[in-house]
Amino acid sequence: RRADVVVVGSANADLVVTVARRPSAGETVLGDDVTTIPGGKGANQAVAAGRLGASVALLGAVGADQYGELLRESLRSANVDTGLLRTARRPTGNAFITLTPDGENTIVVSPGANASVLPADVAAASPEVAAAKVIVLSLEIPLETVRHAVEAASSAGVRVLLNLSPVAPLDEATLRRLDPLVVNEHEAAWLLGEQDDPSTSDDAVAERFIDVARRLRELGPRSVVVTLGPRGAVTSDEDGTTVIDAPEVRAVDSTGAGDAFAGALAVGLAADRSLSDAAAFAARVAATAVTRVGAQPSYPTSEEVIS
Ligand code: RIB
Ligand code: NA
Repeated sequence: RRADVVVVGSANADLVVTVARRPSAGETVLGDDVTTIPGGKGANQAVAAGRLGASVALLGAVGADQYGELLRESLRSANVDTGLLRTARRPTGNAFITLTPDGENTIVVSPGANASVLPADVAAASPEVAAAKVIVLSLEIPLETVRHAVEAASSAGVRVLLNLSPVAPLDEATLRRLDPLVVNEHEAAWLLGEQDDPSTSDDAVAERFIDVARRLRELGPRSVVVTLGPRGAVTSDEDGTTVIDAPEVRAVDSTGAGDAFAGALAVGLAADRSLSDAAAFAARVAATAVTRVGAQPSYPTSEEVIS
């Protein structure tokens, strides 16, 4: 049977090292042992959705190497269909991640096989794309492929969820097909051509992001979700603008929390829940994921989602 959620995106092996603090330019610091954890925004979104019980497929590429096997194994364990996952000639993508005790991270991605995911791969999967309820995209594969997938899916009447991560410029025709565009506060500021404003007090945050979500919608997308990490999210669509709270948790690792959010959001939308309901569910899934180490291994089943 064809998948309800089709993710078109990246798969990386994450090489994670914990450091007390990050080095500045020209400096060396010592870290802990390296752990290798299945990640990559596309595979993360797919595993998040699969673990929640949705029928999901990942269209992408890994290399013919041990990291490719690691990813295939993680996807299989979450019941993600890998029939559209190609083995490329290039090595599996890697993400080099430094993690600090506050749960924050920095990431350098080497795309490898992800760079070989081309519009032709999407064209070859057009029956699977057209049969989906929701297609999910992020930007660790070539932008041309993303644009093609957005066009193909929306022309077939498939709902398109795009997470603008890492940020890249999107043309207006592509923006107009998104339902929703999902961004965090930095990506939102980037899209609106503004400075990040970390100084805003907690009280002013909700009001400020209601305004941000509205202005993002004016750029063209049919709906918008602004994710705010531990503060939840703001959604905006034709039903209005809604502030979503996140449950309070002790964060140990925020790596891939945005991907857990996007994957869970897709599950909610594929089940015909409203955008604000789906986002409230996604905020709980992401909050659960940050309480555990790593990206994919930290994603919850429906029973494990905290309330
Ligand atoms: O969004 C988190 C992901 O970004 C990590 O799993 C890493 O692979 C990078 O792609
Ligand atoms: Na995590």
